[in-house]
Amino acid sequence: MKDLVALVTGSSRGIGKSIVIELAKVGINVVINYNKNESKALELENYIKKNYDVSVLSIKCDVSKEEEVINMVNTITDNFGKIDILVNNAGICNDSTFFDKSVKNFKRIIDVNLIGTYLCSKYVGQIMKKNKQGKIVNISSSNAIDSYYPESLDYDVSKAGVISLTHNMAVEFAPYINVNCICPGWIKTDMNKDLSIDQIEKEKSKILLNRFGSALEIAKVVVFLVSSKASYINDSIIKVDGGRYNG
Ligand SMILES: NC(=O)c1ccc[n+]([C@@H]2O[C@H](COP(=O)([O-])OP(=O)(O)OC[C@H]3O[C@@H](n4cnc5c(N)ncnc54)[C@H](OP(=O)(O)O)[C@@H]3O)[C@@H](O)[C@H]2O)c1
Repeated sequence: MKDLVALVTGSSRGIGKSIVIELAKVGINVVINYNKNESKALELENYIKKNYDVSVLSIKCDVSKEEEVINMVNTITDNFGKIDILVNNAGICNDSTFFDKSVKNFKRIIDVNLIGTYLCSKYVGQIMKKNKQGKIVNISSSNAIDSYYPESLDYDVSKAGVISLTHNMAVEFAPYINVNCICPGWIKTDMNKDLSIDQIEKEKSKILLNRFGSALEIAKVVVFLVSSKASYINDSIIKVDGGRYNG
């Protein structure tokens, strides 16, 4: 997969970081995107430089801000001339009880998770459409399909929006660009670091594999989806959740 260029949004930590490493492992040039965690992004950039024979670049960009997304995409094309792979991974959550949710926080979650996915797809998609090639992977959540938590309803609806966006993008970008969506279940990252042991045990009991997943187990599916092995997979919503049910 030499000479390919991938942008992974929200890749200073967690699932995005693992995706960057797995893409670099198979020889894909990678762009790390972060919003706040510059030191973690630079740490990852150095790790990639030391360990893999690919080009790497880190860019600060809040994916919910259109001007910042335009600047990020321009910086990538100035450096690499193209973008072949986009992984819309940046995401936030902010759990609280149903009645405590503020409109401000609700909108912020929609802005980052849904509008951010749209904006990156809009500006990267233009380049892919012109080049008549590309792969886009959106990271949604199994919370968007069949596991509902009123505490995270703002997050859940933003991720349901990402599924609808995926279907619409697959139509818009046909026939040259594959657009797919991964819906992870519980994955061990900072996003879940505040769960109590009791909550973890309760959630594990609803997973057929009886454990949380790792960031690597999501990253491997991304690498598969952007490879030639997945050339006929398009407009698909793929749950990677160990078999989770809302029992
Ligand atoms: N962990 C799970 O159980 C789970 C389950 C289902 C789906 N997901 C989804 O998987 C994706 C990654 O989650 P994670 O668990 O790896 O989360 P995480 O560990 O909290 O990492 C989130 C990443 O997103 C970046 N980010 C946040 N806001 C951003 C913004 N406005 N613009 C650009 N980047 C931004 C963060 O960068 P900075 O630190 O630099 O701000 C960080 O790199 C998210 O979309 C999440 O919803 C996670």
